[in-house]
Amino acid sequence: MKIKHAEFLISAVGSAQLPTDALPEIALAGRSNVGKSSLINTMIERKNLARTSSVPGKTQQMNYYRINNQLYFVDLPGYGFAKVSKSQREKWGRMIENYLLSREHLKLVLHIIDARHPPTADDQSMYEWLQHFGLPVIIVATKMDKLRKTHVTRHLKIIRQTLQLENEIPLIAFSSETGLGREELWNHILRFIQLEDQDSEVKR
Ligand code: GTP
Ligand code: MG
Repeated sequence: MKIKHAEFLISAVGSAQLPTDALPEIALAGRSNVGKSSLINTMIERKNLARTSSVPGKTQQMNYYRINNQLYFVDLPGYGFAKVSKSQREKWGRMIENYLLSREHLKLVLHIIDARHPPTADDQSMYEWLQHFGLPVIIVATKMDKLRKTHVTRHLKIIRQTLQLENEIPLIAFSSETGLGREELWNHILRFIQLEDQDSEVKR
């Protein structure tokens, strides 16, 4: 995917602030510090358009990035960060749930998992929740560069087993350090968006 244009649009805290141009949206969900913002930067070949940090809990709003005037990446606040207060956690939970359940332009959720460890209880609940509501999802196992080559297959298998992924759910090995998986993920994303287009043509 050639990136001609990428811009930050807005940090939104509620639905009233969301864009109205009806471009398809690809949301990123995952634990705090798992590498969501880094993944966006890798996908769009910008070093620091999406703000990253080694301090968990950096992304606190829904951050919108418009790509090639074709689609949005929506960087959601991470879950599972213990140092966040209960009331803040509940507030984010409501915001994310609201977005995921009611946003018409949301076409796909990238559920980001740390490839180094088995999915956590929070990862499992998140995935079950996405499945329960029938949201289209791709699992991205990131930080693959931190794995020894000989461990790759085993770790991917553990992720599939722990989350009980159906065979048709894509699991993509990714690294924001090396760019591993970038093209593969773009291919999946573009296919998802195009499928939507074809579907709506058929219906018309
Ligand atoms: P929050 O905004 O807090 O939810 O975090 P996030 O999921 O956006 O994570 P972020 O992209 O800020 O990355 C967190 C840390 O992990 C940073 O120090 C990144 O440099 C590092 N990181 C992210 N992706 C990778 C990767 O693929 N490989 C390696 N080695 N480090 C990564
Ligand atoms: Mg972030």
